[in-house]
Amino acid sequence: REILWLTGLVLLVMTMVTAFAGYVLPWGQMSYWGADVVGKAVGAIPGIGPGLEHVMEGSDALGDVFIHRFFVLHFVMAFAIVAIVGLHVAALHISGSNNPQGVEPSQPSDTVPFHPYYSSKDMVGLMLFGIVFAALAFLWPDLLSEPANYRPANPLHTPTDIEPEWYFFPFYGILQSVPSKFGGLLASAGAVLVLFAVPWLDPSPVRSARFRPVCRIGLFGLVVAFVVLGLVGRHHAAGAWMIAGRCATLYYFGYFLVLLPFAPRFEKTRPLPSFLS
Ligand code: HEM
Repeated sequence: REILWLTGLVLLVMTMVTAFAGYVLPWGQMSYWGADVVGKAVGAIPGIGPGLEHVMEGSDALGDVFIHRFFVLHFVMAFAIVAIVGLHVAALHISGSNNPQGVEPSQPSDTVPFHPYYSSKDMVGLMLFGIVFAALAFLWPDLLSEPANYRPANPLHTPTDIEPEWYFFPFYGILQSVPSKFGGLLASAGAVLVLFAVPWLDPSPVRSARFRPVCRIGLFGLVVAFVVLGLVGRHHAAGAWMIAGRCATLYYFGYFLVLLPFAPRFEKTRPLPSFLS
């Protein structure tokens, strides 16, 4: 089950890298300046940073070499994702699916076959996704995109607000809430990396948050903190947004590094059900 969790997170990271690399390709103002911010953040890593930045960008100025490298990264990564999805499903077949109760099925009658039950359930999700996706693509193509990216990249003109695509807002919020450049990079990368440690951070014998009142409230707080960080990323961390961003960043890391390991010591869990349904 740990491998299942870890391959899932590898997929998340690969998708984030693919999406970032893809956003560079239209070579608009946001593509250029977003790449500039990330390149400088990589360059701020002590020791290896400048070398890594140079390998990533290919020359002293973002241009031809950089786009070629990122185009190759973009599609190779996208195909590699398909391979890792295969590993992810293989790992699922070894550990078996979880359930909302977090209790291992004890007899065959506790489980149902994937087809027709889950295939039809997944089809509903797929259709809903298809409807929203088609509506965005065909009716409101500009709803989630940044108009500034229609302007061709111009190294001589910095946009007033450089911001990533909406799905990176929470991590951008963390990046901005930390005053030092390298500290910000460490915190926003750490926000993803800490997820890799979750199977070992949570020692509770009770798996489902349904039976863990403290963990449940904490998890609700985590969702709120993540949304707040997204808003901070959207509005730029200054004034009240800065304070909100710092509090939410502290809570985010506090949830994983303090609440998860220590709550099971005092949390009174509710009794687990003896059957699954
Ligand atoms: C996980 C899979 C993928 C993700 C998440 C992804 C994401 C993205 C994103 C966010 C953009 C920027 C779109 C824009 O702002 O206009 C983009 C552009 C692009 N992607 Fe992908 N992509 C994926 C797979 C692929 C694959 C497999 C290919 C080709 C084999 C590809 C080729 C391109 C090209 C050529 C562009 C530039 C389009 C333009 O300049 O208008 N992508 N991608």
